[in-house]
Amino acid sequence: MNHADVIVSDRPIAKRRKVTVSNNLIACSKGRMPTCNCKEYVLHIPPRLTKSAYPALIKYNIVPRQWHLEGRFGSRTHNVDKSTNGIPILYDQRTLEEISQQSPELKQLLDTEGLIIVEKDFVQNHRTQQSVPEIDARIHPEQEPDDYVSPHISPRCLDTTTNQHDAATFTYAEMFGGIGGFGVALQKLGGTCIFYSEIDEVCRETYTKNFDTPTSCIHGDIYKVSDEEIPNNLDILVAGFPCQPFSTLGDQPGFDCEKGRGHLYLQIVRVLKISQPKCFLFENVPGLLRMKDTLDIIVTAFKDTGYYVTAEVC
Ligand SMILES: C[S@@+](CC[C@H](N)C(=O)[O-])C[C@H]1O[C@@H](n2cnc3c(N)ncnc32)[C@H](O)[C@@H]1O
Repeated sequence: MNHADVIVSDRPIAKRRKVTVSNNLIACSKGRMPTCNCKEYVLHIPPRLTKSAYPALIKYNIVPRQWHLEGRFGSRTHNVDKSTNGIPILYDQRTLEEISQQSPELKQLLDTEGLIIVEKDFVQNHRTQQSVPEIDARIHPEQEPDDYVSPHISPRCLDTTTNQHDAATFTYAEMFGGIGGFGVALQKLGGTCIFYSEIDEVCRETYTKNFDTPTSCIHGDIYKVSDEEIPNNLDILVAGFPCQPFSTLGDQPGFDCEKGRGHLYLQIVRVLKISQPKCFLFENVPGLLRMKDTLDIIVTAFKDTGYYVTAEVC
């Protein structure tokens, strides 16, 4: 799992069940990438040279590289016109020429015909403004409601290095289960999977080779799972619901996702209502936190099923 958002929830206070995992919360403080708010320099370069220029530009740290929340770097190379690409760079012409004294490859690049450096106003866009999560793995007891009672099944209390099957047993359901990433940890903690759903056949096959979940508990497309097939004796519900509509690597269509993936959280709501787990843990991409209205709608839908819910990057 390379996703970074978690949504952690507990049994609603109103129902007075003695369960919480809220002290498992991992929060983050957010920092901002330093961004230039005045001018920036752009290298105008013929498209055919753009790719080959990059190694030298990167080697001498000439291109700013934006930190994407997914943990990768990217440039803001863009089309100026049909015969020119623009690569934002950190230096003006004179500084660049000084740097190129140390580097024949850079000098050769700068001497290329058709290559010029232009100065322009720095334009903020959603990529240059991205905030960088600085991971702060503190426990946040202050977020727990006052009358919360300690859990009787807190995975946190368990030693995760050994199989604690005898120490604690609980049931869990894994929605959008993929190859069972959540299950790896939960089984080690003594969990028994009583419901797994995954639409992709190859994932399901991989899962069945690695987990001994009874066939009767393994399901495909969640839309085809009837209410009656959803267990009602559940301790924990986990789900890494599809992230494509929310990822900053796409256009973030959210609920407008043409493939309908933006609405899959409603299936989680359905399962929550039926199975009433003692707690749940959902996972998605950090991009979802940037779509505030969308996230509010999703979190509210979870809350409306009667749970205490928080959403954080960890
Ligand atoms: C982000 S991945 C989850 C990965 C998983 N946590 C793992 O450890 O492999 C989301 C999964 O949801 C599955 N999925 C998408 N639509 C689904 C549906 N309608 N019913 C069941 N699974 C679905 C995808 O095939 C994908 O494997």
